[in-house]
Amino acid sequence: MKALITGITSYDGYFLSQFLSSKGYEVHGVIRRNSFKSFGNLSLLPDGLKKQINLHEGDVKDTSFINRVVSEVKPDELYHLAAQSFVAYSFENPPSTYDINIGGTLNVVNAIRDYSPNTRLYFAATSELFGKPETVPQNENTPFRPQSLCVAYIMIKFGNLWSKPKLTKLLLMTNFIFLGEK
Ligand SMILES: NC(=O)c1ccc[n+]([C@@H]2O[C@H](COP(=O)([O-])OP(=O)(O)OC[C@H]3O[C@@H](n4cnc5c(N)ncnc54)[C@H](O)[C@@H]3O)[C@@H](O)[C@H]2O)c1
Repeated sequence: MKALITGITSYDGYFLSQFLSSKGYEVHGVIRRNSFKSFGNLSLLPDGLKKQINLHEGDVKDTSFINRVVSEVKPDELYHLAAQSFVAYSFENPPSTYDINIGGTLNVVNAIRDYSPNTRLYFAATSELFGKPETVPQNENTPFRPQSLCVAYIMIKFGNLWSKPKLTKLLLMTNFIFLGEK
């Protein structure tokens, strides 16, 4: 099995890349291109494991890059973790947050539709999707009850995409709040 992880240098990417490697996956990851290389949390992985991960440098906002990496790798599973995930910054700079979190996600979804339709997509999203859930913990069957207009709007936008016949393997979930040393 082949997995592609956007935001592989993230906190969650550290755990996910270890988990998938331990299951025998061929792991590919997108890292943001900078003037200097920054491996983030990946630098904490054991050297042997780091060498096994195939890295692709680019930005999720870059449509042609995402199209290229998805069409080249054709992953069985794509884990979309790349995001501007710092809530306080999203209030300071909404346009940049929108471009990365919404534009970047649209790029990923469209690339799967156009270049690798059998890929299953996990989108990390936000716990705001569940709003005030009646059941704890939540799972794939927990109904969405967003309390924020913004989250409801985004869900409608993505809902329009899901209804397109080709894109049926999308799992919109939220990562849970992890507190740890890494
Ligand atoms: N960790 C949690 O408790 C939690 C809870 C709910 C949702 N989430 C979601 O899960 C995902 C991972 O969370 P995290 O806390 O590990 O994130 P993080 O902030 O540690 O990492 C974000 C990652 O996204 C990458 N990234 C940001 N902008 C990019 C761009 N334009 N192009 C390419 N890569 C880019 C960064 O390089 C980094 O690897 C995020 O989408 C986050 O919103 C996390």
